[in-house]
Amino acid sequence: MIYNTLAGYYDCLVKDDEATQDWVKWIGKYVSPCKTLELACGSGEITEQLSEKGYQVTALDLSAQMVEQAKAKDVEGKIEFFVQDMKDLSNFSSFDTILCLCDSFNYILSKEEISAFIKEVSEHLNENGYFLFDTHSLDRMSEFEEEWNETGIFEDGCGYQWSISSEQDWLYQDFAFYLPNGEMIQEHHLQKIYDPAWLEEELRQYFEIVSVDTDFILPGIQEGEKYFYVLRKR
Ligand SMILES: C[S@@+](CC[C@H](N)C(=O)[O-])C[C@H]1O[C@@H](n2cnc3c(N)ncnc32)[C@H](O)[C@@H]1O
Repeated sequence: MIYNTLAGYYDCLVKDDEATQDWVKWIGKYVSPCKTLELACGSGEITEQLSEKGYQVTALDLSAQMVEQAKAKDVEGKIEFFVQDMKDLSNFSSFDTILCLCDSFNYILSKEEISAFIKEVSEHLNENGYFLFDTHSLDRMSEFEEEWNETGIFEDGCGYQWSISSEQDWLYQDFAFYLPNGEMIQEHHLQKIYDPAWLEEELRQYFEIVSVDTDFILPGIQEGEKYFYVLRKR
């Protein structure tokens, strides 16, 4: 399992309030508060902000531990949470907007699954509904050809090592947690990077492409970390 031990430390590692505001602003540029499904909601930072702004949010994640973190932030109990795979949405009716943020899309590991996922999302959107997501850019492949490493110690005394490396279009994120009781726990994450030209062709079967940007503000596909897609259901 991934996002298991990591779930308890996820916010310590990556929480960034300014970035969360950028995500919320980006979403708000295209969709006003509406019936929204957030796929792979993680620890719920963006989820909670959207809910506070009046979006009627349903959120899901494959990791029960991540959903637990997200639920703890929803003190008013306004968000409906589910622990489930985002590739199967058959238990849901339809939404005005579907979101899949922060490179969660890249956890889908084959072109066949991506094609089926895009179709599944479109089938759970209302007419003219929006699908907003981002992916790792192609530049990530060269960026992590040489392994990147971070080590540190969390407040509770747990040490960690986080490394990212790439091999062709695969991105590997490896975590080792050194618990205060002497136990060591590892998590190995695998992500796949997709060619935006191929992806756009797939998306056009079900969606009108409203915009594709790099790193929130650069128009089109450019050098950067992430591509941002805004799509309207045909
Ligand atoms: C990088 S985190 C991003 C979390 C969140 N979207 C955010 O903005 O912080 C990726 C998340 O994707 C979830 N995930 C990976 N594969 C999934 C799947 N098939 N279905 C649902 N969630 C998935 C993981 O459990 C994790 O919480």
